[in-house]
Amino acid sequence: MTVTAAPETLAQDALSTLMREGSRAEHTSAESSTFMSELLEGRSSVEAYTVFLRQLASVYDALETVGRDLAGDAVAAAVVDEALMRADAIDADLRVLAGDSWRDLPVGPAATAYAERIAATRDDAVLYLAHHYTRYLGDLSGGQAIGRILQREYGLVEGGVSFYDFPEIPKPKLFKDGYRANLDALPFDSATKQRVVDEVKVAFALNEALFAEMSA
Ligand code: HEM
Repeated sequence: MTVTAAPETLAQDALSTLMREGSRAEHTSAESSTFMSELLEGRSSVEAYTVFLRQLASVYDALETVGRDLAGDAVAAAVVDEALMRADAIDADLRVLAGDSWRDLPVGPAATAYAERIAATRDDAVLYLAHHYTRYLGDLSGGQAIGRILQREYGLVEGGVSFYDFPEIPKPKLFKDGYRANLDALPFDSATKQRVVDEVKVAFALNEALFAEMSA
């Protein structure tokens, strides 16, 4: 007899667990991308990081515009939180790194496609969760070390790395526990959970495409 996982098994698994487990391979791949490796090993440059942050500005603009639009939606409200918003920090960093007219720096096809994908979730809050999770939980995890490494490797001591600083979240671990509990309290069936996991994979792929463009 062939034993297959019953759909109920998936429905019982916590959404946050499915999201983490379902994107484990994608995470490993993103971590070991050429762009990330070179950046974190001090083999890149402030200029390259500036170009990258300009791309992220577009991504977070979409993430936070849609987040505020969806703040009254019961699903999105599980994760949307002003304490996470990065647009002001990105603006402050880019003013240091590129000057007040940083918005004139070009945005490439990868960030454009990523921002468009996020914008499309305005009509589908379930998928928005995936994009929110992939960026903000990453920023509160590996991102915390990345900020310190950038400071050390590129001498960014006079500003430029506030992106990694969440002044309203003094204890990221506690915050992430609460975040996962909120996700897990959503009354989703297994098919809906699977949609979220699939979109997390898409979000990781969009990040990888951005990294690939940055190292091209
Ligand atoms: C070199 C780059 C990276 C490093 C060193 C890194 C490191 C880490 C570490 C150590 C954790 C686990 C933290 C914990 O247990 O609470 C983590 C979690 C996470 N990372 Fe990364 N990461 C990197 C890149 C990325 C990228 C590019 C993304 C996506 C854009 C990402 C998204 C995530 C997410 C969503 C989590 C939360 C997993 C969960 O607990 O559900 N990471 N990262």
